[in-house]
Amino acid sequence: MSRVADKVVLVTGAGSGIGRATAKLLADEGATVIVTDINQPGGLETVQQIGGKARFLLQDTAQEADWKRIIDDILAREGRLDGLVNNAGIAGPFPSTFESETVEQWQRILSINVHGVFLGCKHGVPALRSSGGGSIVNLSSLAAFLGTPNLSAYGASKGAVRQFTKTVAIDCARKGYKVRCNSVHPGVILTPMGEGILPNDKVKERVRGSIPIGEFGAPRDIAYGILYLISDESRFVTGAELVIDGGMNAI
Ligand SMILES: NC(=O)c1ccc[n+]([C@@H]2O[C@H](COP(=O)([O-])OP(=O)(O)OC[C@H]3O[C@@H](n4cnc5c(N)ncnc54)[C@H](O)[C@@H]3O)[C@@H](O)[C@H]2O)c1
Repeated sequence: MSRVADKVVLVTGAGSGIGRATAKLLADEGATVIVTDINQPGGLETVQQIGGKARFLLQDTAQEADWKRIIDDILAREGRLDGLVNNAGIAGPFPSTFESETVEQWQRILSINVHGVFLGCKHGVPALRSSGGGSIVNLSSLAAFLGTPNLSAYGASKGAVRQFTKTVAIDCARKGYKVRCNSVHPGVILTPMGEGILPNDKVKERVRGSIPIGEFGAPRDIAYGILYLISDESRFVTGAELVIDGGMNAI
């Protein structure tokens, strides 16, 4: 299969969960994948699972210097960048209400989930433009549409990603950059992060019962949506929200 043949795609936070599944699917479909993560063993494991056409770079997406280093490295080694998946994110402790959240915790969650996505777009767009155009996918969440009383900073961060994605999409489109930007909104997906909000079997069954399709999502369910948005099949799609949640947002 070759839905993204010959594209060079950077996936952040690809040492686990949705990022790993995305990196593997993009590679299966012909892309060269740059796997980055703050977790080196996880990132190296993803590269090993892919086999060829992937390499790992250590990156903290909240740090601007890391973005400059990563983009320079890709342009020097691969000579181009066609896709960027801003996937790295954290949920923070669960539960965290707005009354219990500390300022430090709030800032840490926003620095990775929002600041990291801003930096990715700021430094990724020039590289995509210089390659003739490309596609950015930002991982938001179902949380961007709902109140999240037990994940207050996380919900605010994903709302910001949803809105900022449209800003980047429209600015790039109007300026003729040939860079598309879309957000993906997973529901409850069984990854280390997803398991973190399902502390015991009772809660797990209650949450499962609230999903219209009746089961949790798998990382690959999200990866297929990202694959579409990175591929040229979505050439007319920008500023869109792709909700992949088993129907929860439609209730
Ligand atoms: N799992 C879900 O139910 C769910 C639902 C909605 C949205 N999401 C979003 O999907 C994305 C991936 O989540 P996941 O479930 O795969 O989580 P995960 O915890 O399995 O993986 C996240 C990865 O990001 C990395 N990371 C964290 N901070 C980083 C940083 N500063 N720099 C670089 N890498 C960093 C982690 O090391 C980890 O490998 C996140 O943005 C998350 O908010 C997940």
